[in-house]
Amino acid sequence: MKQKVIETIVNIYRFTELEPEIQVLITKAKEQTKNSYAPYSKFHVGAAVLLENGALFLGSNQENAAFPAGICAERVALSYANSEYPNEPVKAIAIAAYAQQEFSAQPVAPCGICRQSLLEVERRFQSPISIYLFGTEYIYHISSAEKLLPMAFSLDKNEA
Ligand code: THU
Repeated sequence: MKQKVIETIVNIYRFTELEPEIQVLITKAKEQTKNSYAPYSKFHVGAAVLLENGALFLGSNQENAAFPAGICAERVALSYANSEYPNEPVKAIAIAAYAQQEFSAQPVAPCGICRQSLLEVERRFQSPISIYLFGTEYIYHISSAEKLLPMAFSLDKNEA
């Protein structure tokens, strides 16, 4: 038997340790939780996407009575950014969640579909996306979508 070890490094920051540009991105993601439509889960997610050209796009989760029709905050923000700037790489994304009258203490982790969507954008522009997951105690930083979704599905490049 052989083994393959998959490693993902998570950098853990306090808010004040981050660069001002990233502090703004996280603050925008937190603010955006207020625009979430989450009558079913009551879990309000906000995402802020920063493009290489400095443009910022925000998104929040939008739920639906037919549950699968709902969409996550990350994919709202990413699709919005890519629709406006189809040739501009995504530099960073920040994600925050608000539930039961408070921001989550634990950094909020993107769901599997959002990871796959982030990876698509990363591969499309061949440029890593810096991912910041907000928690009131700490902020997790992962340097690329690939690191958040190891052994990802791909039509041409499956790493087994
Ligand atoms: N949600 C997001 O917006 N992003 C994620 O990465 C995880 C989950 C939303 C979907 C749903 O509206 C609510 O959070 C609860 O799952």
